[in-house]
This record gives sequence, structure tokens and C-alpha cells, in this order.
Amino acid sequence: MFGKRTNDPASVATPKKAAPAPKPVAAPKPAAAPKPAAAPEPKAEAAPKPAAPPKPAPEPEAEKQRSHSEEYYDVKTTVFNALIDTIDLTQLSKLDAIAAREEIRDIVSEIIQLKNVVMSIAEQEELLEDICNDVLGYGPLEPLLARDDIADIMVNGAATTYIEVNGKVQRTGVRFADNAQLMNICQRIVSQVGRRVDESSPICDARLPDGSRVNVIAPPLAIDGAALTIRKFKKDRLRLEQLVKFGSITPQAKTILEIIGRVRCNVLISGGTGSGKTTLLNCLTGSIDHDERIITCEDSAELQLQQPHVVRLETRPPNLEGEGEITMRDLVKNCLRMRPERIIVGEVRGPEAFDLLQAMNTGHDGSMGTLHANSPREAISRLESMIMMGGFALPVKTIREMIVGSIDVIVQASRLRDGSRKITHITEVMGMEGEVVTLQNLVVYETMGEDANGKLTGRHRSTGISRPAFWERAEYYSETGRLSEALAESEVFDEHGNPMGESHA
Ligand SMILES: Nc1ncnc2c1ncn2[C@@H]1O[C@H](COP(=O)(O)OP(=O)(O)O)[C@@H](O)[C@H]1O
Ligand SMILES: [Mg+2]
Repeated sequence: MFGKRTNDPASVATPKKAAPAPKPVAAPKPAAAPKPAAAPEPKAEAAPKPAAPPKPAPEPEAEKQRSHSEEYYDVKTTVFNALIDTIDLTQLSKLDAIAAREEIRDIVSEIIQLKNVVMSIAEQEELLEDICNDVLGYGPLEPLLARDDIADIMVNGAATTYIEVNGKVQRTGVRFADNAQLMNICQRIVSQVGRRVDESSPICDARLPDGSRVNVIAPPLAIDGAALTIRKFKKDRLRLEQLVKFGSITPQAKTILEIIGRVRCNVLISGGTGSGKTTLLNCLTGSIDHDERIITCEDSAELQLQQPHVVRLETRPPNLEGEGEITMRDLVKNCLRMRPERIIVGEVRGPEAFDLLQAMNTGHDGSMGTLHANSPREAISRLESMIMMGGFALPVKTIREMIVGSIDVIVQASRLRDGSRKITHITEVMGMEGEVVTLQNLVVYETMGEDANGKLTGRHRSTGISRPAFWERAEYYSETGRLSEALAESEVFDEHGNPMGESHA
């Protein structure tokens, strides 16, 4: 019978070689064994291994990838239970990951034979892989974690998992046995950073060993089972060249950004969630000279600076007793006593805005940070309200003057509705007119229409400014030649040959 648990007593306690039946798996396979190629059943091509990024319309394929019949899950439960009865978990934990996997694979193969489970070799192989992942890793999440093309993993209860690939959110066939298994895995993830998630503390942030950021919100707050969100850590952050290749910016805008980074403008990168702010910040740091002392402050270390002289700092959430929290503001304030030449703040969300602006104002030119806003104008008002909410009793005008005196450039990142990411503004903060902060766009992105495939079309163009406000800085670094050229080449002319112009934001 398929998947019925037999009462054969031998099945409970025979880890080693019982029947000589041919083993489906050659023994010395590495942990993440690729699936056999010549598989008899159509289901066998389930291998969701990384490498090739999916084709433009991966939805149905992804769906097929990891969905199994109920029978498969029944068998898996049976085998899993027999395995748990058989192995000594404390012994297993003494083995390294590869040896432990080997051990489990051996025992599971035995169990499958003893129980006369009828399965194709490919299915067996997958079952082995699944069970190893459950016992040793993050269960059904493992294949998703192994893929490099995924930006986010979003688990909405045991039965539903979405991923983001190439800017598009798609549903996968990945599912957990039940909400209890999902909670177990959440628990396993957060316990690695010394935290706990359960009904009494149902919200938790954590990090995977590879640096991916994790948030868990458990029932009863999440009504349909725990919601687990993973922002995957990219081993290789995108570089400006790649952003050019993807059409996020033009080669000229790349040059302008490089100059802005190099000549020590104070830069704010603005954008929505997942719009590419951190990526862009990382790119901008690429043009910092190698003899500068840089201090980075982040909620969880994501930046990958190439310079030799970097000190990386990270905030700390409060512990279970609610003590020991170190905020971004604490870090930024401390930074100032560390003789930084540049301060880089991963994400400005609160009162640290004040300290960052002060730092920018007091000789730490070239400092940078990101912030959540949908336009450069909104970025200014977000900064303003962060400072007001931080309890600094300053008149609005003073706050605005402070912003104008500190920030030189705002770079806006956006994720457009077709999933593509663009740098939509390179904008200078100029000064004040009465109580209003004046902004000047250098480069903007205009969407123009939609092509036959539903992709948005558009173009980047300069607004006709030939001498940005940071011209003197550029002179000091002998960058004016490159700068003028890049700006001139970014101009777009209308059908009468007149420049399109208009720089006021
Ligand atoms: N210009 C771009 N083109 C394509 N993918 C991008 C681009 N910028 C960022 N990404 C990808 O988008 C995801 C989110 O980027 P990230 O910089 O972390 O966003 P944010 O900091 O705004 O939340 C990452 O997987 C990143 O590799
Ligand atoms: Mg970010």
C-alpha cells in the first residue's frame, strides 16, 4: 500500500543494511545533490535548483515546481515519523552537516525499502532531500533559499508562499505540512539570534546565517498562520554598470552619480520599500577614495564597501526582558567620536536624522543615508517630520535651514509598476525661498508609454542645467570636464531642436 504505516517492528529499529535492494543514490553525493537526469516520471523535473534564472513567464512553472500530491505528503509523514523513532537526534547533532545528511539519507532509504513504499527514483530522491531539509535546515524553504535570483520570500501561513523574482511577485508551490511545522521553522530561525517567537511575543526580527533579513509575525496577530518574510541577502550587490545594463540609469547618469559620490556631496537616497535604495547606496560608496575613513551604521549589515578603512556598526534590538537596546541614534552619535571622514547610515527612520544632518553640517561631507519616500520633495518633508517627532523643539524654518545646509543631493529610486527599477531623479537641494526649500532636478526619468509586452517605456534626460550647485566641489576634484560632458550628453531635444529643459522640482 502506498504510504500506509506498517506495523513491522523491524521498521522501527534497523538503521543499517537490511535488504540488499539497489540503493537509488550513490553514497558519496554532496549535500545538495542534483536530481537524477533520466527520471521516468514527468514530476521528476522538480529540481528547483538555482543557476538558470527563470524565463519571463515563470508563474506556471514555479507552480508546478514543488507541488506534490497529498499522497506524497502522507508518505513523507510516515517516513519522517519512522526516522524520528529510529535516529538518535543528539548523536546526529554531533555530526557535521554533510555527514548528518549522509546518515539521514541512509536511514531514510532503509525505511523506504522496509515499508515497501512505491516511488520512482526521482520521487525518492526528492523525499530524501525534503526530509534532510526538515531535520537539518529550514524545511520547504531550503530550495528557495538556495536560489540566487530571488529577492524576497513571503510565507503567508503554511499553505501559501510567494517570492519576488526580477521585480515580480509570484506564487510558488512551496507549502509546509501544517502551521505547527511553519512555526517550528520560524522558531529555529529566530533562536539562532537568541530570540523567541510564540503567542506571548509574536513579533520578531532575525537574520539568517547568510545575512538575509527575517521578520516573523505569529498567530494570534497573523490570523491565517505565521507570516514569515525574508529579504534575501545578495552575495554580490549590483554595481552601477549593471544598473546601466538593466536600464535603471544611463551611462551619463552613472558618471554623474560617480562624481557626486567622489566629490563628497552629502547624499540622501530616497525610495519605497524594495526600490533599490540600499543597492544604490552601496553603488555610490564605490566611488569613495580608498584613503578615507568610513563608518557605516545599519540595522542589519547589508552594505559591502570595497574600501580598506571601514568600521561597520549595527543596532541591537532589546532582549527578551526589554533591555539593552542600542538605537540608530546611539550609533550615529557615537560615530562622531570615532573620527569619521564619512558616515553612512543604512536607513534613516527616526531621530537619528538630526544627528546625521549635524554630522553632515560639521565637516563630515560625503555622508550618505537612505530614507523611505516617494519623491525628493517628500524626502525633505519626511526628514522634517522625523526631526520634529524626535522631540527637538525647533521651529520648522530652522529645521528646513538645517536640511538645506546639510543635504546636497537627493537620488530617487523607484520600482515601477512593470517591476522594473529606475533611478527617477538626481536632484539638488538649493536653498530656501521664504519658508520653502528649493530643489533643482539635474536628471529625471520620464515614462512615455507601454510596449506590446506590458513593459513601460521611458527615458532619462537632463533638465538642461550645465553647472550644478556642487560645481566647485567638482572643480576641487578636477571632475568638471567629465561632469559637463555627462550633463550635455543627457540633454534631450524636442522636434524643433529646442532642449526640453525645466528643472524645478
Ligand atoms: N536597478 C535595479 N535593477 C534590478 N534589480 C534591482 C535594482 N536595484 C535593486 N535591485 C534588487 O531589488 C532588491 C531590493 O533592493 P534593495 O536595494 O535592498 O531595496 P531597498 O533598500 O530599497 O529596500 C534586491 O534584490 C536588489 O538586488
Ligand atoms: Mg534597504
